[in-house]
Amino acid sequence: MFFTETCANILLTDFFSRTHNYLRISLTDNCNLRCFYCMPDEDIACTPNAAMMSPDEIVQLAGIFVNLGVNKIRLTGGEPLVRKEFAHILSRLSTLPVELTLTTNGILLDKHIDALKQAGVRSLNISLDTLNRDKFTLLTRRDQLQKVLENIELCLQQGLHTKVNVVVMKGINENEITDFVHWSIEKPLHIRFIEFMPFAGNRWMPEKVYPMQQILSDIETRYKFISLGKEPHATARKFFVEGSQGSFSVISTMSHPFCGDCNRLRLTADGKMRNCLFASTEADLLSALRKGEPVQPLIEATVKAKKEMLGGQFNADFEKIDPERLQNRSMISIGG
Ligand code: GTP
Ligand code: 5AD
Ligand code: SF4
Repeated sequence: MFFTETCANILLTDFFSRTHNYLRISLTDNCNLRCFYCMPDEDIACTPNAAMMSPDEIVQLAGIFVNLGVNKIRLTGGEPLVRKEFAHILSRLSTLPVELTLTTNGILLDKHIDALKQAGVRSLNISLDTLNRDKFTLLTRRDQLQKVLENIELCLQQGLHTKVNVVVMKGINENEITDFVHWSIEKPLHIRFIEFMPFAGNRWMPEKVYPMQQILSDIETRYKFISLGKEPHATARKFFVEGSQGSFSVISTMSHPFCGDCNRLRLTADGKMRNCLFASTEADLLSALRKGEPVQPLIEATVKAKKEMLGGQFNADFEKIDPERLQNRSMISIGG
């Protein structure tokens, strides 16, 4: 039985009147790159298969969320395209009444482009932090920049709305900001500069954050641009350089959080529901599903427990954050 939209929306509304209709599902905590800001320093073993949601379980849990009002699903990882059953999972999720999309590092996109088009995927987000081959190899420990660039070109040829996620880290890649903007002028690409965020084991320090104001003033030295604002529930504030084929944006979690109209929920590859990227608690939906226990009450309780901002763990005064005191997983095991 499907709830009416109004009834379902109430069940996914939290105490701050935020309604949640966007679910991010991580398909794996494995990845074919080794970016230090996403993976913990020490090589942690990936979750064993038996502890991960199977394709059937993913589809069942996604169906419950859809029944409660979710109408957008983003597949994440780790790297979602390394999951063996990716094409099968995608095709089954495509039968749900949702906008289906993914965030990927782009390396395996050529192998999956037909499956993505068949599943009705119209836009996707690709992570790429540098346009320099040596720096790419240093950051990711893999010499794969050329492959990623080719696959971004492939997405454009296929008419996919393509966003490029650039995590900006002071002393590492801030000198490439204007090169990325130049790229978005030449090609219909939507570049998103992301402030570096703290997660377990990712060597985050406040000094490594390159805040939005700094990003914008660097761009101003070379380009005139206008602000297009932030769409409701979006992470990104959008900007436009006249004559561009694409656009650029800033995702300012650290200096200007955007929690007030957050509409996101998360499901990790091992079936834990999180109400926030920075949540310190999770609900074990997969165990409940496997025991035949009702999952919906767990989902509702998790939504109601959502904190006003940033998982209740810090605020926009990011210079004062002590990363040792944050309770969180690593980014690779949350799914972004
Ligand atoms: P759209 O659906 O295109 O708006 O994508 P997105 O920005 O939600 O997702 P993507 O996976 O491309 O993530 C881009 C950056 O935004 C990453 O650094 C994410 O960790 C971050 N991000 C995604 N969702 C949230 C969120 O709910 N809160 C915060 N603070 N950051 C988020
Ligand atoms: N801070 C900001 N963004 C991050 N991502 C991964 N780790 C971090 C971090 N520490 C980005 C990836 C990917 C998205 C899901 O999250 O680059 O594009
Ligand atoms: Fe939503 Fe948490 Fe992200 Fe804020 S930090 S926008 S509450 S997920």
